[in-house]
Amino acid sequence: MNTKIVAATDKAIARAARLIAKGELIAFPTETVYGLGGDATSDTAVARIFAVKGRPRFNPLIVHVPGIAEAERLALFDERARRLAEQFWPGPLSLVLPRRADSGLSLLASAGLDTVALRVPAHPTAQALLRACGRPLAAPSANRSGRVSPTAAAHVAGELGDAVALILDAGSCPVGVESTVLDLTGAVPVLLRPGGVTREALSDVLGPIEIAAEANSPPRSPGRLPSHYAPGLPVRLDAGDPRPGEALLAFGPDAPAGFAEVAFLSRSGDLAEAAANLFAMLRRLDRPEFTGIAVMPIPDEGLGRAINDRLRRAAAPR
Ligand code: TXA
Ligand code: MG
Repeated sequence: MNTKIVAATDKAIARAARLIAKGELIAFPTETVYGLGGDATSDTAVARIFAVKGRPRFNPLIVHVPGIAEAERLALFDERARRLAEQFWPGPLSLVLPRRADSGLSLLASAGLDTVALRVPAHPTAQALLRACGRPLAAPSANRSGRVSPTAAAHVAGELGDAVALILDAGSCPVGVESTVLDLTGAVPVLLRPGGVTREALSDVLGPIEIAAEANSPPRSPGRLPSHYAPGLPVRLDAGDPRPGEALLAFGPDAPAGFAEVAFLSRSGDLAEAAANLFAMLRRLDRPEFTGIAVMPIPDEGLGRAINDRLRRAAAPR
């Protein structure tokens, strides 16, 4: 086992904060997925995040802070942003807002845009780390660009290994899909990435929300690139009958017979359970003895929208 994985005790969190202060990168759990964190005010730390992930520099990073007060020091909040922050923070929602001129954030983190995506994670380890650091952390998902996001410390070790100074381990991420990214820089809120907070829950607070067009995806939200979250094997959606050698990602109590292996996202048909299992099960089935991963249909509502969004990108031509 990789010795860099350490249980997320107070002592380990303090060590992680010291490493961050020195410009190093560490991985830490959030309620959505594990993040690859670095000092968001340091150009060198942020540049290292892009290098380690192999991420194109035009893809901006989410900046993490412990609370609303810290967030308001970095970006301009309007009435809508405040209402959403009060309702959903801490939690799996990232808000794209105009960046304050005196934010102190590395311009690289925003990939040259004059906006910033801010998030206040709910996970106790992420909260403790952010408070111990006393500075904002830029943190994309701790995977190589385009691959499946990590929901366990071992996934991070497998993806990034030596490139991280330390991996804080607090078990599996309870939500399992990334935060919802909502752009509030225009008159109408635009959903850039479906995620842990559902569109329905946002509309209850905000009224109508626009869904970003696929066409202007890359510059606005790279999680929206057609091929993303991809395992090594081909992924086939809305599967019914098996093809030779295929593994199945099942949803609901019954799986069709004839697949080489079956993993149940949720036998009871619970979307929250399915989201929490999604990335770990995609990884588990991604083995050379199978010819592909087939996925049963998943209802396109609530958290199902985030699940289907990730699966469509995992299945997209590469
Ligand atoms: O749940 C999450 O959000 C996780 C955990 C670690 O917090 N982080 C995460 O980060 O998923 P990342 O870098 O993998 O995804 C960030 C998404 C991308 O789709 C990016 O394009 C979008 O947020 N984004 C970041 N800053 C933006 C900005 N200024 N304008 C538009 N989109 C932005
Ligand atoms: Mg990602």
